[in-house]
Amino acid sequence: MGAKRVLVAMTGASGSIYGLRLIRALKAAGNEVQVIISRWGEETLKYETGIDRETLVAEVDRGYDENDLSAPPASGSYHLDAMVVIPCSMKTLAGIAHGYADNLVGRAADCSLKERRKLILVPRESPLNLIHIRNMATVTEAGAIVIPASPAFWHRPKTIEDLVDSVVERVLSHLSSAGEKAAEWTGLD
Ligand SMILES: Cc1cc2nc3c(=O)[nH]c(=O)nc-3n(C[C@H](O)[C@H](O)[C@H](O)COP(=O)(O)O)c2cc1C
Repeated sequence: MGAKRVLVAMTGASGSIYGLRLIRALKAAGNEVQVIISRWGEETLKYETGIDRETLVAEVDRGYDENDLSAPPASGSYHLDAMVVIPCSMKTLAGIAHGYADNLVGRAADCSLKERRKLILVPRESPLNLIHIRNMATVTEAGAIVIPASPAFWHRPKTIEDLVDSVVERVLSHLSSAGEKAAEWTGLD
């Protein structure tokens, strides 16, 4: 599988470490990585990891302002292999579910769905209200893949990074990325 152009959006949900580790894994595997970090995504990234937007953008191929609706991903004609919203806030989920594209995250996701490209949303929210559940059903019906940030334990994680990577590897496997091979369940012992 060759290098891909992947757009990663980080929104203002808790769990910015998921986006951070996905971005780094995609870059390490030689992919072209573009990012959009929403205003509240930026705040949670800084608060939860100590990393600021500029530092993260410097690690990727291109960073966009969430308010720049003239940026390439605002058009379906711009080629992307996939888009991942990680972490995905309930507000951004609601916008995507209803086609309410008031920023570049929502518009790029809307374009991904209309162009029938891969769109992966990674929500962290818990518990879920009926609106959240219905919005997840709506985006799934429209073609998106919802991968909740629910770490697995069968691989016997030793660190927080191990736990986080169990979610990141699920995303990579759906991207068919040339990232590190995800751990596979091979049966009891
Ligand atoms: C520290 C912090 C943690 C948050 N965690 C969540 C969360 O886990 N899920 C969520 O939907 N919103 C969460 N929010 C609220 C969102 O940031 C808020 O709804 C925001 O409008 C989302 O906008 P965005 O999707 O454009 O980033 C959190 C806010 C802060 C400041």
